[in-house]
Amino acid sequence: MPPVGMGKAYKSIETALIHAGEALDRITGAIAPPLVRTKTYRQPEFGERSKWQYSRGQNPTRSILEEKLAALEGGGWATVYSSGLAAETMLFMTLRPGDNVVIPTEVYGGTSRLLKQVMGNFGISFSTSEYKTERDIMKSIDRRTRYLFIESLTNPSLNAIDLSLVNEVSQKTGVPYVADMTFTPPCSIRAYEYGAEAVVHSISKYVAGHNDVIGGGRRYKK
Ligand SMILES: Cc1ncc(COP(=O)(O)O)c(C=O)c1O
Repeated sequence: MPPVGMGKAYKSIETALIHAGEALDRITGAIAPPLVRTKTYRQPEFGERSKWQYSRGQNPTRSILEEKLAALEGGGWATVYSSGLAAETMLFMTLRPGDNVVIPTEVYGGTSRLLKQVMGNFGISFSTSEYKTERDIMKSIDRRTRYLFIESLTNPSLNAIDLSLVNEVSQKTGVPYVADMTFTPPCSIRAYEYGAEAVVHSISKYVAGHNDVIGGGRRYKK
């Protein structure tokens, strides 16, 4: 596997897993990052702003997870949300009325419900593709298509979608693609190496791995 991370390169994914985004706590030397539960932060002077202001925008504990996810996925930056569907909602909110997105014929039920029952109300439509051949993908693209949305392994049947094929079509048509990599965490495959514009994870699955955390992440190119 090539070096992990763009800004800061790590020799291996194991090293990135341990170190990315983390530093020793300067006050106590704690190795595990402390949980910062504050809402607001003291600013240096009236009218001056520090990096931290209000935890809805930025919070040091959350930033560690964001940096780590970005490094593991291969750089750029990541934003974490309270769930995978929250991350997807924010992704689809980058679309405008009249835009279209192509999703796999089999896709996570929550994703299709989000598009049908929520995004449809904002004038955002979707079409479907088996994502099996170039011709099949091309058929689903029209002038309204803003991006191709895929799942690396579809939910629930775990059909594999060929990232190289999707990348080829994306390059040919100029339509970027976004990958839901929930079932293929970065230690197995990283979509950015196959040209993805953004990556989405439901963190409760293989990224967390212990069935005890709900979260979602989006990782973008620089
Ligand atoms: C492939 C896939 N994407 C997205 C989601 C949504 O994630 P969450 O349950 O964290 O909202 C799921 C949840 O099962 C999923 O399987």
